[in-house]
Amino acid sequence: MTELDTHRANNGSIAMAIVAVANQKGGVGKTTVTMQVAAELSRRHRVLVVDVDRQQSTVWWAENASDRMPFDFAGSQHPNMLSRLRELRADYELVLVDTPGSLEDTAVLETVLDAADYALVPVTPEPLAVEPTLRTLSRLIEPRQLRHGVVLNRIDPRVPNQLETWQRLLDSDLGVPRLESYLRQYKVQADAPVLGQLVTTLRRNRRTEGPIADIAAIGRELEQLLSPELAGTW
Ligand SMILES: Nc1ncnc2c1ncn2[C@@H]1O[C@H](COP(=O)(O)OP(=O)(O)OP(=O)(O)O)[C@@H](O)[C@H]1O
Ligand SMILES: [Mg+2]
Repeated sequence: MTELDTHRANNGSIAMAIVAVANQKGGVGKTTVTMQVAAELSRRHRVLVVDVDRQQSTVWWAENASDRMPFDFAGSQHPNMLSRLRELRADYELVLVDTPGSLEDTAVLETVLDAADYALVPVTPEPLAVEPTLRTLSRLIEPRQLRHGVVLNRIDPRVPNQLETWQRLLDSDLGVPRLESYLRQYKVQADAPVLGQLVTTLRRNRRTEGPIADIAAIGRELEQLLSPELAGTW
């Protein structure tokens, strides 16, 4: 192999990162985070979204869209395809996997976590979300020594101290790793699946600037977490 070939081979082997968006608590925003963050990251990276949830919410979301999704999309996939994806050295820098939020599908979730490089764990500021989230972390994520971060979703800025209270709960009381960035509760986010919308294609105005900024911040933080040495050069 010549020096040039070696150089090509190194550049050709893309360091793919598989991110599992996971929480066994239902309705905390896994599908929302998967789709919106995938759209944001697809501005700078080749992104694949994989849906292994029986509900196939991302497929439904995509079908409601008038435009093509800005990322590649693999709905109704068997989770085993994730390990094959890496063997094939498929041409993606980031793979986001939307996973089921029910205990019945634990086997599917475990297969995804086995293949993942990082677990992004959305959680809503509700007392009832805490226990299932901690169980997901302690039973499924921590035993795999899988890097992970909890991301707060549906923060309501009108509720005094809600953000600070939940940040403190995660940091001090529960001691779980957390993303600095978080998602606020917005009608734009609630309407997005049925309208097939992604915040990246919305016109920026008073109604949309909040959700656009939230998703942009999570995208940037995830890039840093996945590739500190590359942060800033993207
Ligand atoms: N930041 C937000 N602001 C407003 N609505 C939100 C926000 N995040 C999620 N939602 C809404 O909350 C509901 C649940 O979100 P989502 O479907 O993303 O959760 P999930 O974890 O994927 O649920 P499941 O466990 O059923 O798969 C959806 O109707 C979604 O539109
Ligand atoms: Mg979902």
